[in-house]
Amino acid sequence: MNKLNKRYLNIQEKIRSYDHEYYILDNPSISDQEYDNLFRELQQIESQNPDWITPESPSQRIGIKPANDFSTFKHFSQMLSLANAFNEEDLKNFHDRIIKNLGDDQRINYFCEPKMDGAAISLIYEKGILTRGVTRGDGTLGEDITSNIRTIRSIPLRLKQSEHTFPDLLEVRGEVFISKSDFDDLNLKAKQKSEKVFANPRNAAAGSLRQLDPAITSSRPLAFFAHGIGSCLGKTFIDLQELFTVFSSWGLPVNDLNQFASSITECSKYFQNIESSRDTIPFEIDGVVFKVNEISLQKQLGEIARSPRWAIAHKFPAEEVFTEIEKIDFQVGRTGILTPVAKLKTVNVGGVNVSNCTLHNFDELKRLDPRPGDGALIKRAGDVIPKMVEVIPKKKNRSHSIKIPKKCPCCKAEIVINFQSEWTIVDTNTSKPIKRFSSSYEAKKFLDENQALKIHIAEERFETPFMKCSGGNNCPEIFQGKFTHFVSRKAMDIDGLGQEILLTLINQKFIKDFADLYSLKDHRSELEKLERFGKKSVDNLIKSLKKSTSVELHRLIFAIGIEEVGETTSRNLANYFGTMDSLLKSSYEDLIAVPDIGPRMAAKITDYIRDIENKTSLEKLLNCINIINPDLKSSNEDLLFSGIQIAITGKVSPMSRDDLKNIFMLQGAKVTSSISNKTNYLIAGENAGSKLEKAKTLGIKIVDATDIDDFINDPKKF
Ligand code: IVH
Repeated sequence: MNKLNKRYLNIQEKIRSYDHEYYILDNPSISDQEYDNLFRELQQIESQNPDWITPESPSQRIGIKPANDFSTFKHFSQMLSLANAFNEEDLKNFHDRIIKNLGDDQRINYFCEPKMDGAAISLIYEKGILTRGVTRGDGTLGEDITSNIRTIRSIPLRLKQSEHTFPDLLEVRGEVFISKSDFDDLNLKAKQKSEKVFANPRNAAAGSLRQLDPAITSSRPLAFFAHGIGSCLGKTFIDLQELFTVFSSWGLPVNDLNQFASSITECSKYFQNIESSRDTIPFEIDGVVFKVNEISLQKQLGEIARSPRWAIAHKFPAEEVFTEIEKIDFQVGRTGILTPVAKLKTVNVGGVNVSNCTLHNFDELKRLDPRPGDGALIKRAGDVIPKMVEVIPKKKNRSHSIKIPKKCPCCKAEIVINFQSEWTIVDTNTSKPIKRFSSSYEAKKFLDENQALKIHIAEERFETPFMKCSGGNNCPEIFQGKFTHFVSRKAMDIDGLGQEILLTLINQKFIKDFADLYSLKDHRSELEKLERFGKKSVDNLIKSLKKSTSVELHRLIFAIGIEEVGETTSRNLANYFGTMDSLLKSSYEDLIAVPDIGPRMAAKITDYIRDIENKTSLEKLLNCINIINPDLKSSNEDLLFSGIQIAITGKVSPMSRDDLKNIFMLQGAKVTSSISNKTNYLIAGENAGSKLEKAKTLGIKIVDATDIDDFINDPKKF
């Protein structure tokens, strides 16, 4: 072997090891530039010595396009599927069945793994060399997708040498997937290029594997975890723990969330842990898998109905469910903006019945193109509102595309089209988008609160069109929406005015203005005669209205419903101006000086307070109520939490997070939704997720929600 040939093999070895560090250990030891230089050297040697090239060379990941279709491949051992458990009882039955089969003197250890939501594949290694990659197919026959599999950087083309010898033949079973952030990134790029976006990471992974051109697969951020073994000639393993340790030593990626469990109770605990940290796990999972650890016991147990008796998937409640679209409505909000909403055949998604699903805006409507009679995949995660991820067009007699209305569906006024910009926060190092905002000031605020991160605001990227009813207060939907907001809990907090009652009061012309609510007490007998109203409910309503006549300034500002002025801005305005009078007299320049208020918001507020109709309406309202102005003096130094920044995460029962936020804010604290290096304390409730992790890394003081009382009394102790 000459010197160059030695150097060539040495570079190959080095690149393999750097790939392993980068793609599997997530801990590269050299810079991208050094890596690129090495890779270029490899390619140069190969171009001068083409006969040296073997398929395992790192330069050979992207091969030639296969002819026109994938060929079929018969798995050496079948690829089984898993039986499901949905609750503790199912799990107990699973364990009991095993005991019954093996005898109760047998101690059963389990191996617990997250259930990856990706695409199952089988890799064939012959004496350590990857010779084939195959889809699961029907479990017996799969498709030979070797050229695509070879493009996945975390799959070794040649196993790493370790103290464990390579079997002559080895079928590695595992899952190809795309991480959540890579998926967002992929879809963002597709959106920018006006290409089709993927419904979810699983579809994106499976679709990428079935590309006929490996160059396309190579451009997709596919990752891999090994989770099992098929045939293996020339080597045996005692248990899964050993199997995965050996796999890791060969450079095969293994999920580091896998865990050993010495009892089924420990398995349950594992399930709870994984479920509560699901949001912080960087890839999609749909449950966990429990497997009998010892291979000899697995063999004894065997399989039934193509599922092993020794393994079970404990699934999370389904978060993605198919249903049928009944129709698409356009809802008019209090600001007049029209939102397309799909009415669905009711389905249970993740434990909640869903029959409506907002499509947010017209871009989304265009993208999904949902039509009555079509199928739809609905997703809901945790508290998140249901989202339509995919539409499955009806095969026969599909109805026409939904037309964007020209007139308001409620009042028939003209629809005007506006554009809403979005601002994107981008990771400066990786250029990956992190978060999107519809106002530049919110984006700036995020930047400000996250100074520890290397991020910047990208230019305005998208212009989402939105449609607005031009009817103003003449549109019943806008009018009713304004009242609904006015009486809501975070605004004037008036009980007893549900949608139907409000509608009756509006239709019967009892209320034409906010101030009219406070004259309802003079119409007692007429009210009592109305449908749905009895003496008791009228009494309660009047009591509640009376209570609301004494209102904190920030609630009033929020209640009057200035476009885009949310709760936090209302508080900032109240604290800055101190009185309603001074706010109403403010100029654009005054407004822009308020913390967190940018040009766009300042313009909205100026428009509102200059509008003559709003002015008269407000004057009437102000005559009916007493405003509790913020005590501006005491909002300075002397409050217990002055100058302290707090974030709250997780469930903080028995109080709600909002109540707790109010307590802190009244005591002078700044309460933020995200964490930055300016945050002094994080209040961590039950199921605290990523914020808790982040707070730990930033060294922020963490207060357990069970210690809140002590903390409120004396924060210095913490
Ligand atoms: S073991 C014999 N482990 O779930 C057991 N499967 O229905 C075979 N999956 O398509 C699978 N994560 O690809 C196993 N940690 C894991 C898994 C997992 C995801 C997929 C698998 C298969 C399906 C089983």
